[in-house]
Amino acid sequence: MQTRITELLGTEYPIVQGGMHFVGLAELASAVSNAGGLGIITALTQKTPEDLAAEIERCHQMTDKPFGVNLTFLPTLNPPNYEAYVQAVIDGGVKIVETAGNNPAKWLPILKENDIKVIHKCTSVRHALKAESIGCDAVSVDGFECGGHPGEDDVPNMILLPRAAEELTVPFLASGGMADGRSLAAALSLGADGMNLGTRFMATVEAPIHDAVKQAIVAATELDTRLVMRPLRNTERVLTNPAVERLLEKERTLGSDIKFEDIIEEVAGVYPRVMQEGKPESGAWSCGMVAGLINDIPTCKELIDGIIEQARSIVNDRLVKLMA
Ligand SMILES: Cc1cc2nc3c(=O)[nH]c(=O)nc-3n(C[C@H](O)[C@H](O)[C@H](O)COP(=O)(O)O)c2cc1C
Repeated sequence: MQTRITELLGTEYPIVQGGMHFVGLAELASAVSNAGGLGIITALTQKTPEDLAAEIERCHQMTDKPFGVNLTFLPTLNPPNYEAYVQAVIDGGVKIVETAGNNPAKWLPILKENDIKVIHKCTSVRHALKAESIGCDAVSVDGFECGGHPGEDDVPNMILLPRAAEELTVPFLASGGMADGRSLAAALSLGADGMNLGTRFMATVEAPIHDAVKQAIVAATELDTRLVMRPLRNTERVLTNPAVERLLEKERTLGSDIKFEDIIEEVAGVYPRVMQEGKPESGAWSCGMVAGLINDIPTCKELIDGIIEQARSIVNDRLVKLMA
């Protein structure tokens, strides 16, 4: 199944695993790449650039297929040493980077000089056009339904993807709410060149996270996510739990006076407690509405093979006949 995305990335299938904090480690990235997709290591989960270099090396040991690294540019006053993280990517021989969180313009020259393809993940057509204009090779368009940060425009993929197709010249991935072969067939129909999945890849055998988190995703329905931190203009879609409901109550009570410090207990340091210690109720962690479509924990190969087979069957057996 060749599209402009498989040509750009050198993968068998147009399927990408988006960067995920405390999930995107070498185990998952290599499993996705070995199954014909593009696996992505999440740089900032590694405490230091040296740790990222070691994680990239570990991933090289587990796959000889292409894989990428996610660089998330955080809205923080004390940014991590991005220069050293970028250098670790370059020195590690990684040829694909997923950028997110902010305009990656500052890093494009050095990435391009080193033959690195850049996929910028964003949540609006205007940001996608900006990414294209500064020289990104592709974009991932994250709809309102996505797990993580959907931005502030709230445009779902049924509208956002065809709008992106109308405006963009570079290839793009449909991201947010993607689960299976139905999602892939729909994404391609709406004009995308492939799809990017986050939450779905958490509920796989190889995802290096506690089983309690995988079970929480399987148990969740499409009604179980909430948007937090909207008053701080840092909206995040997370799985609900008592800590998240407490956070939302603080948002209601404090209104526009709310500050990050008010909710620090529900958001700071949560990821290791959830993903490693298996305490999914310890705070707010990203999860997409697509949880409602996730009912099993397959291997990455079973998942990707199933996606391709189902997409082919929808197009060949259902759509072709309906249109004949
Ligand atoms: C647990 C989790 C952590 C995430 N962490 C990051 C991150 O650190 N950087 C980033 O760019 N995107 C992150 N994302 C977003 C995903 O890469 C992807 O864009 C999103 O999950 C797609 O929506 P879906 O979950 O509906 O598939 C995260 C998503 C999840 C579910």
